[in-house]
Amino acid sequence: MPDRALSLGDLIDMQIRQSGPMSLATYMGLCLTHPTRGYYRTADPLGQEGDFITAPEISQTFGEMIGAWIADLYLQMGAPDRFTLLELGPGRGTLMADALRVATRATGLGEALDLRLFETNPVLAAMQRDRLAAYGPVWIEDVEHIHDVPLIVIANEFFDALPIRQFVKRGGKWFERSVGLTDGQRRFGLSPTPYAEGLIGEAFATAVEGEVAEIGLAAQQFMGQVCALIAPRGGALLAIDYGHERSGPGETLQALSRHAYVDPLARPGAADLTAHVDFEALARAARMAGLNAAPLVTQGRFLASLGLVERHAALAKANPKRAEALAAARDRLMDPDQMGTLFKVLCAHSPGLRPAGFAV
Ligand SMILES: C[S@@+](CC[C@H](N)C(=O)[O-])C[C@H]1O[C@@H](n2cnc3c(N)ncnc32)[C@H](O)[C@@H]1O
Repeated sequence: MPDRALSLGDLIDMQIRQSGPMSLATYMGLCLTHPTRGYYRTADPLGQEGDFITAPEISQTFGEMIGAWIADLYLQMGAPDRFTLLELGPGRGTLMADALRVATRATGLGEALDLRLFETNPVLAAMQRDRLAAYGPVWIEDVEHIHDVPLIVIANEFFDALPIRQFVKRGGKWFERSVGLTDGQRRFGLSPTPYAEGLIGEAFATAVEGEVAEIGLAAQQFMGQVCALIAPRGGALLAIDYGHERSGPGETLQALSRHAYVDPLARPGAADLTAHVDFEALARAARMAGLNAAPLVTQGRFLASLGLVERHAALAKANPKRAEALAAARDRLMDPDQMGTLFKVLCAHSPGLRPAGFAV
């Protein structure tokens, strides 16, 4: 059979037949970023016609608030002659286009801007190129490829897309969750031997039989790496995502296709696989890299304190025919029963800076 006819599922099944079950993290990594068949390598998954919709695609005001946040931080940093603005997983470039429309109103910011984009998806990178050409973006394959100047990092729904590991408690010990084949069908299983507990911290000590410790190791390592770049340069990272404030037992792996939940094992590479972000673990990684972590806030509170309600009111006044749609978009971003509470905002920053939106 020619290689082209093989689906990612076929390739994964062949690997399992050859080498035995693979860890959930390996499976998730292949599903998302396999070079030719990974979910984030082949198509634009965003929007009504795609698999999910993100905040910047709901309303321009989301990116605008982040633009105001960037401008405020730039001025707090003393309006440096040069600074890097790095976006992790910029999607269609919508957030950054909306943000820069606002941020470049700060005197000097446009001239000082060195825009870097970290993106794995060539389809989305092409859209970013169209949207952001005026700012001369540079795509980097390694976050270390940046200048030695102050650094501001933005990540909306990026960390949830990194592979997780899961461990299940059985007989008082932790066993790693794996993906294997039973009667030719992909099935979750467990490692044959228990895991030495290095990774599984105190937060999971209360877990009872059958409970799961979900460890976002890739997200923690990535966070640590980026924060270690910020620490000597000065600056901040803003991460917005769905997730929990405290580490603890529970499982959140999910697969989304066409705005509906599907079986994560059914069609590898065809559905978005994500997990909720463990913000406590990310904040710890930031502190270990020498940054401060502002107290976590909900997306609703963050956007309210940056003026999103007032911005929507001004847009509705200028364009009364859109008032209803604007109100619906505002509610979707801010209401506790929509994105307002599930989504949270973490800011890791250099000591001495006071990022907007996190007042205690
Ligand atoms: C859920 S989308 C969010 C897009 C955008 N931030 C937004 O809010 O619309 C995740 C983004 O991260 C990118 N991405 C996912 N995994 C990645 C990886 N391992 N390295 C670089 N980019 C990645 C995707 O291609 C996409 O641009």
